Amino acid sequence: MNKVIVTGGLGYIGSHTAVELSEKFQVVIVDDLSNSSIEVLEGINEISNSTPIFEKLDLKNKNEVKKLFDKHKDAIGLIHFAAYKAVGESVENPLKYYENNLSSLIYILQEIDKLNHSFNLIFSSSCTVYGQAESLPITEEETIKKAESPYGNTKQISEEILFDYARTNPKINITALRYFNPIGAHHSANIGELPLGIPQNLVPFITQTAAGIHQKLTVFGNDYNTPDGTCIRDYIHVVDLAEVHIVALEYLIEKRNQDNYNVYNVGTGKGSSVLEVIECFVKNTGVKLNYEIGKRRKGDVESAYADNSKAKEDLNWSPKYSLDDAILSAWKWEKKIRG
Ligand code: UD1
Repeated sequence: MNKVIVTGGLGYIGSHTAVELSEKFQVVIVDDLSNSSIEVLEGINEISNSTPIFEKLDLKNKNEVKKLFDKHKDAIGLIHFAAYKAVGESVENPLKYYENNLSSLIYILQEIDKLNHSFNLIFSSSCTVYGQAESLPITEEETIKKAESPYGNTKQISEEILFDYARTNPKINITALRYFNPIGAHHSANIGELPLGIPQNLVPFITQTAAGIHQKLTVFGNDYNTPDGTCIRDYIHVVDLAEVHIVALEYLIEKRNQDNYNVYNVGTGKGSSVLEVIECFVKNTGVKLNYEIGKRRKGDVESAYADNSKAKEDLNWSPKYSLDDAILSAWKWEKKIRG
């Protein structure tokens, strides 16, 4: 089996990707456990086809990154998830975000640059790079506006670093995947989202409220210019999102790419409002959800959903799961972790 390194492999999207990847590759999970738990590794091992190798290391440490590449010289690719991702925290502490998210990427590229063989890199980007798009659904051609937060800016800058670097090294193939809103959990409920503290994202807040951890959910504004007044997002099942990493990597390995730097939107193509997500939760679980309408949250865009035709055409990928499936899997996971 070919070897692939997965940084941030114990995180939410990384762990689901490690599981799917282990069907076809020898997976090396790298994680510093700064925002994840070692127990996730047990969950991954229970459902994986082959047992991933685990390397606990800090990618901000240049020397450790060098050691990683020395040890796993035979790796043919790397999927780079490891990054801080809390939007609010990035506003409070921008240097923490710039240091971590950018230095780790640069150190990884410096090691890749020393290799004599071709190498394939998949980068976790975000639809946050678009801000409020001029036209919907959002294509990859949409103008990139000034980022709303240092976190968003690290994704924009990372894409620029990758673009510039790819031009200098024809042996490297790079794909940046711009995720829309990942939700849900593996159907086994062995792994899922584990937000630290109070969740900022909608679906974990819904499931935690339904589990009695919060008294109520606040819907951030119902005066947007949308059919029911609440914001619209493109919620994608995390297993569908994991799958796209495998097909994007295979696309590069099989040298089907024309350019050595590409970006893809990864969403379902369907927008759902906050109230529709709440309705979907109640309809599928039969559990009542206490919620109120509150003020708008600063920095929220009104509407964002993907035109995913580029990923569908090039990568021959399309999402398999519905919003119902994703919400039900998130609820199954929430019940499991609450014991
Ligand atoms: C957020 C981040 C985005 C990041 C993404 C990762 C912000 C501004 N954006 O996107 O950069 O890439 O998570 O998943 O934080 N909502 C409520 N009540 C809540 C929580 C959310 O009404 O308690 C609404 C929000 O207003 C939004 C929708 O639910 O309309 C989705 O919110 P969220 O899950 O936080 O995702 P994004 O804001 O789209």
